[in-house]
Amino acid sequence: MKLIIQENYDKMSQWAAEHIIDAINNHKENRPFILGLPTGSSPIGVYKKLVAANKEGRVSFKNVVTFNMDEYVGLPKEHHESYWYFMHDNLFNHIDIPRENINILNGLAEDPEAECARYEEKIASYGGIDLFMGGCGVDGHIAFNEPYTSLNSRTGVRDLTEDTRIVNSRFFDNDPEQVPAKALSVGVGTVTDSKEVLLLINGHNKARALAECVEGAVSQKWTISALQLHNNAIIACDEQACGELKVDTYRYFMDIYKNERL
Ligand code: GLP
Repeated sequence: MKLIIQENYDKMSQWAAEHIIDAINNHKENRPFILGLPTGSSPIGVYKKLVAANKEGRVSFKNVVTFNMDEYVGLPKEHHESYWYFMHDNLFNHIDIPRENINILNGLAEDPEAECARYEEKIASYGGIDLFMGGCGVDGHIAFNEPYTSLNSRTGVRDLTEDTRIVNSRFFDNDPEQVPAKALSVGVGTVTDSKEVLLLINGHNKARALAECVEGAVSQKWTISALQLHNNAIIACDEQACGELKVDTYRYFMDIYKNERL
């Protein structure tokens, strides 16, 4: 696992955006580049930089197919807190991606399990995901895979914990009751099947999750710890998120990836 420590959120975002731009531009195969994407506040800086790079002509999304991580159950697309709305508002409406290349789970599907099976099949039909970018919850969840979700899990319906609903209530008038209790989410296994995984972890409130992910045991308690078993996993983080790392862990990654510092 690589841990790329940047001085602040802006530099973390810049590093991650440049990494994605390089991956897309270096993709020479005769098939689209398959990109997995998250929502949340963590990726907003990356999305801003991808939009700017697209406008500057440094990257095109015409040959990119995207799969989003998750979607709340019960929110229509037009709801300002649906992940469909978030993605269009922050990224898709501002780049040259063909609309038919965008895949987002349908939280209003009549048969949610069938919707999740369809999603897995569609990912497989492209030969899997080339690069899955993600964030993580303060409890170490990846996508909506709360603690104790199987590390082999596939796309499915998830119950959200009370803690996650409280954390996410900042987007719902600070009222946890307004946060949907369920979501559709790719599984931990769906993410780790990707050829490359890039997680963004920033801020003091993620410090424990980062330490558990990097230094802790591989455990379903911290579902992001599954990354330790991935051959090509990168975490981009800011200094604030490093507060719970051991000093020698911090020094090790600062030394070995010093050339990646912006
Ligand atoms: C939600 C999403 C996750 C995201 C997490 C963290 O729970 N389902 O994919 O990683 O929020 O969000 P933030 O980046 O706002 O801290």
